[in-house]
Amino acid sequence: MKRTHHCNELRPAHGGQTVTLVGWVHSRRDLGGVLFIDLRDREGRTQTVFDPSDLAKEVFERASHLHSESVIQIIGKVRVRPFGTNNDKIATGEVEVLVKELEVLNDAAVLPFPVDDPEVANKVNEELRLQYRYLDLRRPEMARNLRVRSKVATATRVFMDEQGFLEVETPTLFKSTPEGAREFLVPNRREPGTFYALPQSPQQFKQILMVAGVERYFQLARCYRDEDLRADRQPEFTQVDIEMSFIEREDIYALIEGLLKRVWHTALGIDIPTPFKRISFEEALNRYGIDKPDTRFGMELVDFTTEFRTSTFKVFSGAIANGGVVKAMNARGLAGATQGQIETMTEYAKSFGAKGLAYIKVENGEWKSPIVKFFSEAEKAALRTKLEIAEGDLILFAADQWLNACEILGKIRLYCAEVLKAQGKLVIPADRFNFLWVVEFPLLSYDKEMNRWYSSHHPFTAPVTEDIPLLKTDPKKVRGQHYDIVVNGVELGGGSIRIHQPAVQKTIFEDILAISPEETQLRFGYMLEAFKFGAPPHGGIALGFDRLIAILCATTSIRDVIAFPKTAKGTCLMTDSPSGVSARQLRDLHIEVKAAVKKD
Ligand code: AMO
Ligand code: AMP
Repeated sequence: MKRTHHCNELRPAHGGQTVTLVGWVHSRRDLGGVLFIDLRDREGRTQTVFDPSDLAKEVFERASHLHSESVIQIIGKVRVRPFGTNNDKIATGEVEVLVKELEVLNDAAVLPFPVDDPEVANKVNEELRLQYRYLDLRRPEMARNLRVRSKVATATRVFMDEQGFLEVETPTLFKSTPEGAREFLVPNRREPGTFYALPQSPQQFKQILMVAGVERYFQLARCYRDEDLRADRQPEFTQVDIEMSFIEREDIYALIEGLLKRVWHTALGIDIPTPFKRISFEEALNRYGIDKPDTRFGMELVDFTTEFRTSTFKVFSGAIANGGVVKAMNARGLAGATQGQIETMTEYAKSFGAKGLAYIKVENGEWKSPIVKFFSEAEKAALRTKLEIAEGDLILFAADQWLNACEILGKIRLYCAEVLKAQGKLVIPADRFNFLWVVEFPLLSYDKEMNRWYSSHHPFTAPVTEDIPLLKTDPKKVRGQHYDIVVNGVELGGGSIRIHQPAVQKTIFEDILAISPEETQLRFGYMLEAFKFGAPPHGGIALGFDRLIAILCATTSIRDVIAFPKTAKGTCLMTDSPSGVSARQLRDLHIEVKAAVKKD
């Protein structure tokens, strides 16, 4: 059995040649006794023709009984298709192969869903696709995603190698660290009650590699986080993880811009312009209400705190008196929203903490709103000018503490964009990629419930040098040397320049994050120790590789670019994991299960 060509290869120039093809029965049509079978392999499709007048009866018989997705081998002669029968959707659409011999290598049972229908992802329940993932992956759309993933992984490795980086593998049996997401634990058979933890990222190892003098490290690293799953989050995922010594933030920006330029060129043939724009965390929130802004459309947030400070509309002036702000945005073209739709939007805003969602609809030259009656002429004039109010506009307001007001309108802005897209009023070209560095994040955020500071990124991030004295006096003002890379509203990656002096690191752990010295020693002692022996200044970043591929493949779900992803409940439907284990295994691991949860 030796194929002479792949199913994407044959052209009119091959006319008259005898070829051997192998693959799966993709689709079949019976046209007046002549049978047309599209044969598919990994590379593409070729039309094969079984003509009973030109074929042994027994071979034709077998062909007529072929099921979809059976595996076959054919030998036949290439011929140019008759005029008018070309298929310009496939690369081999100008030719067909007139079959002489057929061998059925394996018959296929009736399929749970069709493989030849490009709409399967929209029509078939995703659980069924995941259960029969091997069939789902045969679909050309999914096969393309796997191919893009592989090409981009290779391009990444080549680029990083050219830049002098070493790929170093770090352990996936690690130890538990209290920061960040919940961890997956692995019981240790040798010492009852002790556990490994699967790493949330290779953060600590890559920093240690800098102490080890590696200078430039990268890894396509598998990471594990036991967090609530969404379309852009999986319990195990891949990072392009990077760390460099003797560098500043600018070096990371330049490196990643070069890498993404290479990746976009490889995957899409697009030359993306660099350097990328930069925006501070504060400006991102002020203008877009989110730290990963989608800048492909406007609808920016506008501040009206000054204008409404003394307003007779108490909802606004009261919020300002409480130290809050008033923000508004113009959802251009949405004035036609019905009362029901505005209520739905208000409920949505309330679901993440808004107290209400004041609005003005501009219709037939009139401002329709339950609240404009409270506005002074000066307030109305300010709105008109700063929001450039025109016929058909829908103005939406949030009055709240700064961060809340920004985040509420930020979410409403994205919601409105979806509505406008569905109505065809907002059209974003598929090849538009707005890259953005988000910089100057606060080093620390405050957890009101726990009454303590926590690291906005992670505890290894260095403060901006001139802000270090503020650590003792005004921690919330300290900016971190942290950066995120964002594209089209997706957080693609994040990183920072790290603390490399053990004393500063110890201050962050113990004085700021209030981790006890014992706990610090237990969890991070080895790192502080390592840093005593000549740790170079260093920094790095990690890109979410699955998210990167999803963007390149124009899908919103990273499940579409992972060969065997987990469901939102963290299960693998194909292998039925996680699953129970035997009493003996549990005994060996010194584990007693309190109550077996029955699987439904
Ligand atoms: P961070 O936690 O920001 O940083 O992660 C970096 C990037 O990884 C991707 N990502 C995920 N992708 C899929 N599923 C998930 N559950 C998931 N969680 C994160 C995101 C994110 O931007 N060690 C640091 C990096 C550093 O400082 O160098 C880190 O892990 O795209
Ligand atoms: P009320 O006076 O509570 O009936 O609110 C009048 C209008 O203001 C309603 O449309 C509310 O949805 C809206 N509203 C109330 N509180 C806020 C707030 N904090 N920010 C924005 N709009 C609000």
